[in-house]
Amino acid sequence: MKQFSFMIKTFGCQMNERDSEIMGQLLSENGYIESMDMDNADVVILNTCSIRAKAEQKAMSLLGVLRKVKKRRPSMKICIAGCVAQQEGQAILQRMPHVDLVIGPQNLYELAGLLATLDGTPRVAIGMSDSYEIPAFIPALPRLLQQKELQSATPVAPFRKFLTIMQGCNNYCTYCVVPYTRGREISRKVSDIIDEAHVLVDAGVREITLLGQNVNSYGRTNQVTDAGGDYSFSQLLREVAAIEGLKRLRFTTSNPKDLSPELMRCFGEIEILCPQFHLPVQSGSNAVLARMNRNYTRELYLQQVADLRAVRPDIALSTDVIAGFPGESDDDFEQTMDLLEEVRFHSSFSFKYSDRPGTRSADFDDKVVEQVKSERLSRFQGRQDTICLEHNSLYVSKSLPIMVEKITEKGLVGRTDTNHIVHVEEKIVCVPGDIVTVTISHAGQHSLNGILQG
Ligand code: 5AD
Ligand code: SF4
Repeated sequence: MKQFSFMIKTFGCQMNERDSEIMGQLLSENGYIESMDMDNADVVILNTCSIRAKAEQKAMSLLGVLRKVKKRRPSMKICIAGCVAQQEGQAILQRMPHVDLVIGPQNLYELAGLLATLDGTPRVAIGMSDSYEIPAFIPALPRLLQQKELQSATPVAPFRKFLTIMQGCNNYCTYCVVPYTRGREISRKVSDIIDEAHVLVDAGVREITLLGQNVNSYGRTNQVTDAGGDYSFSQLLREVAAIEGLKRLRFTTSNPKDLSPELMRCFGEIEILCPQFHLPVQSGSNAVLARMNRNYTRELYLQQVADLRAVRPDIALSTDVIAGFPGESDDDFEQTMDLLEEVRFHSSFSFKYSDRPGTRSADFDDKVVEQVKSERLSRFQGRQDTICLEHNSLYVSKSLPIMVEKITEKGLVGRTDTNHIVHVEEKIVCVPGDIVTVTISHAGQHSLNGILQG
């Protein structure tokens, strides 16, 4: 019997990366083999993102390329998964008749069954339920081990894994498409998460990043333990951290409005919790934050930064910022620049605002013109770049443990617990996942250089 091959191309966030892994595993369990060759794969899956207009365009332009491939090879199946699939549904088939399957994030686990029953008529599976339960899922060990051998070919190395703890979002920030594409906030059961973490650690994983749109509200919207009662994200962190053999723990992403003092204390108390925190601020202006429906103020955010630094002085803070939200005045933007000066983030992700379908801000008046958005964005990024370099320079001469990520021709590449990449041009016997200590010898804007210690 012919064995079919599949290829998955992932766009967007870490949630999507993890979803792609799950789809890959489901297909492997159903007899498909993974391919790296889009021109020859029997099934090509685009796991799309619609968070910003640009992300959506990227997937759509690849879909245009696939149209030509399919002309040459009509037997190839094209599947659109992820957030654009959910958002556009049937409309994708009208515009792109070469697509065979449109499948939303909540339908992920139906993938193999749907592919097997395709009969030439395109299918759309984008069911969205408020009472959706994330299925218990056991990562496959052979796949992990196989990835270990492929090391350089895989974007997420097997010593380091994402673990999804919740889906969806209930916050309804006015600019954000996520509540519409991923649905209501649903937390996974604690026991499923702990089981999955054990399987990962037993398979050699040394670092886990817990994933959710808003991890700080884990356990708030549905019962996550068999015993019932309250259960918080901090409790989950402590339980995962207690797994023997796990060396590093991270999580993403957070909303300042739900950041509890209990969670901040974790940074001082859980030894393997890395001193790195991504806390998206979006804007430094209270007027803009209110129109974004963020439900916190600049003052609260600055207080949280001070509290976090009091608990863990070496914490590396990063953030997300949107430039040119509708109605953002010059003065509003100056307040964002001013917040950058006050906080001095270790790094940040910043974006020009773009209208997303179905969001409230898409209907706001007073849109900021493209050129002003671009100017603001490049001013923010220019200043952040300088601050990055200044921060990075402070690591020079320091002795830091790094987790090895890659063995290269010249030596190795590792990562500090603060999430800084370190290049080492010396050879030692080690494997990805090992922790070695280096002295930082040079700081660049985006990475550090180090020398191995004795
Ligand atoms: N326009 C620009 N940036 C956006 N983000 C989310 N929605 C939009 C939008 N409509 C950014 C936010 C968020 C990050 C993942 O993407 O900064 O934190
Ligand atoms: Fe993109 Fe958001 Fe969907 Fe992730 S959840 S893929 S960031 S739209």
